[in-house]
Amino acid sequence: HSVCAKASSSSSSSTAIAGPEGIKINSVPTKPIEGQKTGTSGLRKKVKVFMQENYLANWIQSLFNSLPPEDYKNGVLVLGGDGRYFNREAAQIIIKISAGNGVGKILVGKEGLMSTPAVSAVIRGRKANGGFVMSASHNPGGPEYDWGIKFNYSSGQPAPESITDKIYGNTLSISEIKIADIPDVDLSHLGVTMYGNFSVEVLDPVSDYLELMENVFDFELIKSLLSRSDFRFTFDAMHAVSGAYAKPIFVEKLGASSDSIYNGVPLEDFGHGHPDPNLTYAKDLVNIMYSDNGPDFGAASDGDGDRNMILGRGFFVTPSDSVAIIAANAQKAIPYFQSGPKGLARSMPTSGALDRVAEKLNLPFFEVPTGWKFFGNLMDAGKLSICGEESFGTGSDHIREKDGIWAVLAWLSLIAHRNKGNRTGDKLVSVSDIVKEHWETYGRNFFSRYDYEECESKGANQMIEYLRELISQSKTGDKYGNYVLQFADDFTYTDPVDGSVVSKQGVRFVFTDGSRIIFRLSVCDFICPLLLFLLASICLCVSNNFDFLYLQGTGSAGATVRLYIEQFEPDASKHELDAQTALKPLIDLALTVSKLRDFTGREKPTVIT
Ligand code: G6P
Ligand code: ZN
Repeated sequence: HSVCAKASSSSSSSTAIAGPEGIKINSVPTKPIEGQKTGTSGLRKKVKVFMQENYLANWIQSLFNSLPPEDYKNGVLVLGGDGRYFNREAAQIIIKISAGNGVGKILVGKEGLMSTPAVSAVIRGRKANGGFVMSASHNPGGPEYDWGIKFNYSSGQPAPESITDKIYGNTLSISEIKIADIPDVDLSHLGVTMYGNFSVEVLDPVSDYLELMENVFDFELIKSLLSRSDFRFTFDAMHAVSGAYAKPIFVEKLGASSDSIYNGVPLEDFGHGHPDPNLTYAKDLVNIMYSDNGPDFGAASDGDGDRNMILGRGFFVTPSDSVAIIAANAQKAIPYFQSGPKGLARSMPTSGALDRVAEKLNLPFFEVPTGWKFFGNLMDAGKLSICGEESFGTGSDHIREKDGIWAVLAWLSLIAHRNKGNRTGDKLVSVSDIVKEHWETYGRNFFSRYDYEECESKGANQMIEYLRELISQSKTGDKYGNYVLQFADDFTYTDPVDGSVVSKQGVRFVFTDGSRIIFRLSVCDFICPLLLFLLASICLCVSNNFDFLYLQGTGSAGATVRLYIEQFEPDASKHELDAQTALKPLIDLALTVSKLRDFTGREKPTVIT
């Protein structure tokens, strides 16, 4: 009994059941498929896994089985994706199962395209009940690579764990898929198609989002910058979804030249690229920005358009500095923040540059665990406006996702604002000038992240255990080389809005001069399905509690250890130092203290940011 988009309408073994007026709903028998554990960033697997019989259909039906009927019956759901391989087939399956479960209307981006931030914006703007994002974010796409699906609820934020846990539970007991007997929907033309009471509206994926951006930013101000002959702008869409946004926004609306957009056509395999905007994977852009007479501004965004990287000519803006600099200048340069940001927040491993801005501007400040979801409650409660993570995520409460194009527009606003009073012939105040001025005012938080990817998980877990043991014995005043310990702990967060507590979010050593060494295991996207299934079953039987799955980071052979190093430098004469040089003593200390080389067998990290 297979639910594939085309076969569904002729499925002979299914039975017709009553559904929304005017369409026939087939009930297709199915069986549970293991390994569909869903996190708040959804379910991510190899495309081949998703293409197995009923794999996606089971998950979508399990989602409907998990939601209260009032959250979707006759309701409106948004559907978008990053353009990767399998999105077209998946969109048809999602539309038909939504209709089969009594959804009233689907708003889908043309060709199935819509960035993650735009889906969040459309859900909020059109007061939809929720929405689907078909994406595996920055993971490569194509028949051999990854696919993913995520569900956001009515505030535009990824569904909370209470829902994703239910979805997983339902994937283990599912027996029936309800699917509407309707033809494939033509996603290539804008407009509404009715199928009985059910309708599908194909939207321009850009227009709602663009309208929001025009409300947030002063487009005339940005235009004045982009029209200057001494300001050359570059955007690398990495053949991912922001390609669909770059031309309408940067070129058509804001007047950037059309050759300023690189890799602007979304492709199913991202042009064989790895659509992650960092110094390693956006190498082409980095080379352009560091070339002789390179452009004045460069930016890139990831597969689904929520991450960003900002560069000046020959200059990299570390994401921790980026959010701090945006926050410091937002009130002056960005109309949305004209009455001042309500509060600022960063994830724990992100550098303390933002803390200094919050202090100076006298704003409420929050430090949350890694993961964008922790910002949402603070935003809903009106406590937070601008936030960011070291992992190339920056955003605000205009939506409930991080937002790559927003970050680019924010930086263009800052540069434009800083150059407002310029007279003809004045030298442009550049990205690096703005960053250096910021360091002069606030001091510089040198920051770097070392990734040790695909370590053997046993050694990685043992190292974390060893560090936990170490912190339990540590006390204020302990000497670590030239550094004096202020405190060491495993980060625990209590949500100030709902009081919920999450623990074991990263081992940190904080020194009296503000320097920090942090160790975390990445929450890996791919967990060995069988192992996880066994672990989950044991957890369910024994304690009805999944916590320890998260604490282990991953259950598979591949664990990623992340080491974050930060050092504060108030002395402006030392701000020009290369981050790796400035941080060398602290990095050496971190490697010694953790015995990382012994535990992981690794001499060097695989990625440095
Ligand atoms: C995703 C989330 C980010 C988070 C990152 C951490 O990209 O959307 O909010 O910062 O994961 O990944 P890690 O591999 O460090 O757990
Ligand atoms: Zn992403």
